Amino acid sequence: MRILVTGGCGFIGSHVVRQALMIPNVERVINLDSLTYSGHPQNCSDIYDSRYYFIHGSINDGSLLREIFQTEQISVVLHLAAESHVDRSINSVKPFVETNIEGTRVILESILESKRLGQEIDLIHVSTDEVYGSLAPDDPSFTEQNPLNPRNPYAATKAASDMLVQAFVNTHEISAVITRCSNNYGPNQFPEKLIPLMTINAMNGDNLPVYGDGKQIRDWIHVIDHSNGILCAMLGLKMGRLSTGEVVNFGASNEIENIEIVQKIIQLTNAKESQIKYVKDRPGHDRRYAMGFQKAKKILGWSPEIEWDEGLATTVEWYKENSEWVESITSGKYRDWIKNQYGKTI
Ligand SMILES: NC(=O)c1ccc[n+]([C@@H]2O[C@H](COP(=O)([O-])OP(=O)(O)OC[C@H]3O[C@@H](n4cnc5c(N)ncnc54)[C@H](O)[C@@H]3O)[C@@H](O)[C@H]2O)c1
Repeated sequence: MRILVTGGCGFIGSHVVRQALMIPNVERVINLDSLTYSGHPQNCSDIYDSRYYFIHGSINDGSLLREIFQTEQISVVLHLAAESHVDRSINSVKPFVETNIEGTRVILESILESKRLGQEIDLIHVSTDEVYGSLAPDDPSFTEQNPLNPRNPYAATKAASDMLVQAFVNTHEISAVITRCSNNYGPNQFPEKLIPLMTINAMNGDNLPVYGDGKQIRDWIHVIDHSNGILCAMLGLKMGRLSTGEVVNFGASNEIENIEIVQKIIQLTNAKESQIKYVKDRPGHDRRYAMGFQKAKKILGWSPEIEWDEGLATTVEWYKENSEWVESITSGKYRDWIKNQYGKTI
């Protein structure tokens, strides 16, 4: 297998690159990343493997994609490049439309063009539970049969890209699977997201801004479990366990309220309860997501392996031990964004 990972300098992509290199019959892993604010070469700086190569470029550049497909004889694209933060999509949706929808369109058309030239490329399109919308407290978890019901601009652009992939499968017979996963946590996550934001602020003695009543529920999965799921989907498509056009969900049955996570982080960092500051809720904030992953279990033999308490403790430890990474990521621009977002509480 010769793999192109898009967005491999981001949080999940960097783990996918590392995990892919652990598969013995993987001959090549190319990481294509345009290094937006959330993409950092440091996330892959520990990878010393002659099969790995980084290319600084955009998925929106079709001629670059086709050149990589051809010269590297790519057989699979693991597509993770995206604008991924809901709050930013509320401030401005344009970059989300350009990357998540238009970028996916460029990837699809490039794969189609290669197919017409006789090169078959599988696509694993990495999507999110947010495309299914929000659950009421007693609703069952999402399954792959749930209708798409995105409720924020980020989720809408991801749902649009999922539908574009399915349309290309149906009309152009490209080979693609869509994976949808719940909220990830782990090392290397850009600190605008809940767990790294709270951990770093807790360690620095800063305020811990909690949206609304803090009772929003997410189904937390460790990034290594998700990365393994993406690779299982890739192998499942190659081996015919999954057919083109299929969707597969990944989750971890860890439904936890945001405020409970913040309290746990306070304990793990010896911070103070008084650092918690409730701030105005995110507009249209979804209350609950939960992913059913029976299909992944049954068809791919995949299950999450990292237990939540252990996973959170080692994640917090990672941020404690990697202060240089934190320093290099939390530049002036990052600080301006956080200040704008949470106002005077920081
Ligand atoms: N983080 C989660 O909890 C979660 C959950 C489910 C699904 N996902 C999906 O997983 C994928 C990765 O998410 P993440 O949290 O790692 O995001 P991230 O923001 O950490 O990383 C995104 C990466 O994509 C790169 N990128 C952006 N635009 C690009 C472009 N035009 N060309 C090339 N590279 C570009 C960025 O530089 C960055 O390295 C996304 O598609 C996201 O929707 C994320």
